[in-house]
Amino acid sequence: MSGLAGRAAVVTGAAQGIGRAAARRLAGGGARVAILDRDLHGAQRTAAELAADGLDAASFGCDVSDSAQVTAAFAEVRARFGQIDVLVNNAGVNAAFDLVAMSEDDWDRFFAIDLKSAWLCAREAVPDMRELGGGAIVNVASIHASMTRAGMFPYAAAKSGVVGLTRTMAIELGGQGIRVNAVCPGYIATEPVIAKLRAEPDPALAERRVRTNHPLGRIGEPDEVASAIAFLASEQASFITGATLAVDGGLSARFAT
Ligand SMILES: NC(=O)c1ccc[n+]([C@@H]2O[C@H](COP(=O)([O-])OP(=O)(O)OC[C@H]3O[C@@H](n4cnc5c(N)ncnc54)[C@H](O)[C@@H]3O)[C@@H](O)[C@H]2O)c1
Repeated sequence: MSGLAGRAAVVTGAAQGIGRAAARRLAGGGARVAILDRDLHGAQRTAAELAADGLDAASFGCDVSDSAQVTAAFAEVRARFGQIDVLVNNAGVNAAFDLVAMSEDDWDRFFAIDLKSAWLCAREAVPDMRELGGGAIVNVASIHASMTRAGMFPYAAAKSGVVGLTRTMAIELGGQGIRVNAVCPGYIATEPVIAKLRAEPDPALAERRVRTNHPLGRIGEPDEVASAIAFLASEQASFITGATLAVDGGLSARFAT
């Protein structure tokens, strides 16, 4: 991917899944990649995998919902890479709550991970990008930002917030050459999604239903989201900001099944 060589990129939640694939795509395009995750061992594993392929990556333990940890991790990234050109806000959890039974603490904890963390990380990265005269932020939202179903409370609300945040940040930062975009994945074959399908009473039927709901007839792979993230982070997307790109195999184009 042109336009990434020599860039320093931070990817949150890169111990596994979409984040790990995004780290690999960015590093493969020539970026130096900081892997942030609250799962330090997983982050180290991703960094070691990339290093084994001759790619430049470093791991940092960080709970991105905790502002003190975010500030400390970005200071470490700066010390290692000297600059931050690209930020991928990918860390997130998909937990479902009953809207009456959910406690205020659970609400605050959940929104801190799925929404506030994107602002906390941007708050750290933007001064570096301003100093460099530009940069790119890619936020990982979800198809649930625009359409949802029962059992997704309050995930859909948090991911809608991520899309709103993307637009606001794009407007606030465009004059400084900082582009901000979002991707909205559909069903992607990562650990939590596979585990959820396996926990269904009839896993084969559930998997078939999900597959056939997609016009492309299958579930997506983490690398298929990663390639969209790397494109938006690169100079190939130089006139794209404030955009939300569906990476969902056509799921959101469908009216009903
Ligand atoms: N897989 C899908 O189908 C799908 C669809 C739409 C959106 N998404 C979004 O994509 C992103 C990645 O999802 P995934 O499926 O790869 O999930 P995953 O569970 O495989 O990976 C998420 C990573 O984020 C890390 N993480 C979670 N909370 C964190 C925190 N507070 N601080 C630091 N790291 C944290 C986890 O340790 C893990 O490594 C999430 O934001 C998710 O909501 C996924």
